[in-house]
Amino acid sequence: MNQSFSRHRRLRSSATLRTMVRENHLHLEDLVYPIFVVEGENIKNAIQSMPGVFQLSLDQLKIEMDEVAALGIPSVLLFGIPNEKDECGTGAFHDHGIVQEATRVIKEQYPHIVVIADTCLCEYTSHGHCGVIEGGKVLNDPSLKLLADTAVSQAKAGADIIAPSNMMDGFVAAIRAGLDEAGFEDIPIMSYAVKYASSFYGPFREAAESTPQFGDRKTYQMDPANRMEGLREANSDVQEGADFLIVKPGMPYLDIVRDIKNNFHLPVVVYNVSGEYSMVKAAAQNGWIDEKNIVMEMLTGMKRAGADLIITYHAKDAARWLKEK
Ligand code: PBG
Repeated sequence: MNQSFSRHRRLRSSATLRTMVRENHLHLEDLVYPIFVVEGENIKNAIQSMPGVFQLSLDQLKIEMDEVAALGIPSVLLFGIPNEKDECGTGAFHDHGIVQEATRVIKEQYPHIVVIADTCLCEYTSHGHCGVIEGGKVLNDPSLKLLADTAVSQAKAGADIIAPSNMMDGFVAAIRAGLDEAGFEDIPIMSYAVKYASSFYGPFREAAESTPQFGDRKTYQMDPANRMEGLREANSDVQEGADFLIVKPGMPYLDIVRDIKNNFHLPVVVYNVSGEYSMVKAAAQNGWIDEKNIVMEMLTGMKRAGADLIITYHAKDAARWLKEK
């Protein structure tokens, strides 16, 4: 018979055949699990808007890490919530700050797990902004020194990767110089290169207690409507010495992920952020969606868009589901 159309269904006819022609796969090695650490003892505070996510004190962190290690998740990303905040975020660059101490705990317990330290000031500043404030403005250049100091103290504590999320201009160059000067030229920078001023960070700010006390982050994080700006941001970070490029949030920005993948030659990291997680959890708890299938589809979609790594609060569940397969 003369055929005037293509038979795409030929390659979909059985489960085995579909597996054979599958183009993208989610692997355990792709996953980075974010963890919130707090000062104190025996603390496991549930984050209301993020079911299954907790603020953990160091003793609880150890238990969490047993689970992470048993699941084979290769890497964690640490966010710290200090007991005391001040104007310039001293807790961020204190050698015995909470992230520094958590890093030591993990590296002693599981040396092979890659510890990524979030390098920002907003969890540590009384005003909740990611830089130094003067006259109601977030100052760029004076913030750089504090960020470099933070990165160096994190590296000293044993962090394997520095992940600056503050969106000041020149932060990669400043942190690279700081690390190099301190003898940490081998510590990579995973830069939040393309970070949008997103409402999807809402639940994170509950978890990290980092809501800005005035204004918003729109003078340093990007306008969600912009695409070219993302390329400019990534370009600067590459030139300044970034080793990985993060795009954040994930789901509504997968076009940007593909742009970054196509235009640069560094590993691309997608941050599947708190709001994305909360939406899935809420719908799943209502029985409206199939959580496992939705999560695996989302994460595979991120791989297809160009992600080499995915930072996700679903990491432990995804690791379990990958094992079941
Ligand atoms: C800190 C930081 C934020 C997130 C990661 N690092 C919050 C923000 O920029 O307000 C958000 C992560 C998430 O929503 O899961 N600057």
